Amino acid sequence: MTGPEPAEAGRLLAAARRPVVFTGAGMSAESGVPTFRDAQTGLWERYDPQELATLAAFRADPALVWGWYEARRHGVRRAEPNPGHRAVAAIAARRPETVVITQNVDDLHERGGVPAPVRLHGSLFAPRCSACARPAPIPEDATAPEDDAAPGDAAAPDDGVASGDAVAPGGMPEPPDGRVTPPACAGCGAPVRPGVVWFGEALPSAALDAAVEAASGCDLLLTVGTSALVHPAAEIPLVAARLGAPVVQVNPVPTPLDAICAVNLRGPAGEVLPALVRAAWPDAAAG
Ligand code: APR
Repeated sequence: MTGPEPAEAGRLLAAARRPVVFTGAGMSAESGVPTFRDAQTGLWERYDPQELATLAAFRADPALVWGWYEARRHGVRRAEPNPGHRAVAAIAARRPETVVITQNVDDLHERGGVPAPVRLHGSLFAPRCSACARPAPIPEDATAPEDDAAPGDAAAPDDGVASGDAVAPGGMPEPPDGRVTPPACAGCGAPVRPGVVWFGEALPSAALDAAVEAASGCDLLLTVGTSALVHPAAEIPLVAARLGAPVVQVNPVPTPLDAICAVNLRGPAGEVLPALVRAAWPDAAAG
């Protein structure tokens, strides 16, 4: 980070007592988890994520959609939090009233040191029945050579779904088309679905309420790695701005939020956030 913006962002962060950190897929990009709008590769390149992430797609072809989420879960399990996640944890350590709100369905904030982010779009690790909503166990992961790969290997941009890479529950190699039949609910026998929010579905109301409340009461909102295209999540920074809190954005490219931001920090989260923490608290050893 160079120029006057980082210093100004550092001052805003140091002055904040109730910061909100609002994150999207770009937060985990440097951990090797592809963003939602990245081109898919391997088995999945002919599918558009926006078409797989719907209830209609799951109903039409449960094994295709479950297989895609299982592949993503395997990819995330092999990924590690990056210095950006650790910088967010450093902010929360400095400012205990920090609220982290994420659109991501991975668990990298938790593993990076933020135990309970507000999850607007659910989790890859909370499957539930598609009919009765009973929580279902996460399928057991089979041991595969790839599962022991070094963390750096997680940066492969294929989300761990290249042919022959993912392993289905029970240790069998995945079928070549990536389909995995979802487990049956232990209560009613209906197919288990991923515990994520699909396009067209309502956000979990408790999470949305918590996010709106935090954004309404914050004195700084730091938005990181989101295209701000998917609503209602994208309104969270607008709530903060409307009520007078400065908004600082971290993203390598412009987004619709640029105009409302006090400071736009152009760059990758894994570099910009640790530098921001150092700018706010020069004695900090974050990231
Ligand atoms: N650091 C910071 N930002 C980055 C980085 C990085 N290293 N790499 C990419 N980005 C930015 C991109 O420029 C883009 O603006 O991250 C953003 C990712 O945008 P999306 O893929 O649209 O992800 P997100 O905003 O989280 O999407 C919102 O849409 O598809 C649904 O439910 C899904 O939660 C997701 C939601």
